[in-house]
Amino acid sequence: MNVKVFTDYEELSEAVATIVVDLIKRTPNAVICFASGHTPLLACQLFVAKILREKIDVSAIRFFSLDEWVGVPPENQGSCHHFFYDVIFNPLGLTKNQVYVFDALTNNEADECKKMDEAIAAAGGLDLMVVGIGMNGHIGFNEPGVAFDNYSHVMALDKSTIEGGQKYFETNTILSKGITIGLQHLIETKQVIMIANGDKKAEIIKRTFDETVNEQLPATIMKTHKNGTIMLDKAAASLLSANQFDASH
Ligand code: PGA
Repeated sequence: MNVKVFTDYEELSEAVATIVVDLIKRTPNAVICFASGHTPLLACQLFVAKILREKIDVSAIRFFSLDEWVGVPPENQGSCHHFFYDVIFNPLGLTKNQVYVFDALTNNEADECKKMDEAIAAAGGLDLMVVGIGMNGHIGFNEPGVAFDNYSHVMALDKSTIEGGQKYFETNTILSKGITIGLQHLIETKQVIMIANGDKKAEIIKRTFDETVNEQLPATIMKTHKNGTIMLDKAAASLLSANQFDASH
């Protein structure tokens, strides 16, 4: 696992945006999966701006949303669906057949998961995944206790995810389950980047480094990935010891 530490959130986000743009330049039909949320927001805005500025052809990319709040409609501004259309899909003019988001209102969750798994397989697998880390160490809605060999699945949300998730919504919203791409997909993805910023993530980042790989702390799966990088700002890395990261980047 590689570790990179950047001065601040802006520098971290710039670096992620550059990786995304370079991948698309190299591989015009790249298959990309991103988490939504506060951490990846600036990286998404920056890579979209760069693509538009440099007039890079994105007509062949495929883009997957990592997860979704079950039961939250797409027009709700706190949904992952809304995030991706607003920040990436609409600005880039991506077409319906290029983008994959879970239907949060499905009445057949198993079928929805199967469709996602089939879409990833049909795309030839994921080239790049960019994920965040929850305060409880989750990745997407792969909550503590998740089986690492799961493909797409639905999971009951942790109390901390339900409470913390309210920050995305304008009004108090009932959250109970998440539908998510699974960690077996992460393992099979060619390149995986986990990003975290700010003091509030320092403790869970420290635990991720200190603990052995275990399903109670899903983020520890990063240690098993053959091309995985954790990218942090200084604040998120502040509890790590010097030998736990290489500050060069
Ligand atoms: P955040 O969420 O980026 O809004 O902090 C991270 C997560 O829960 O995965």
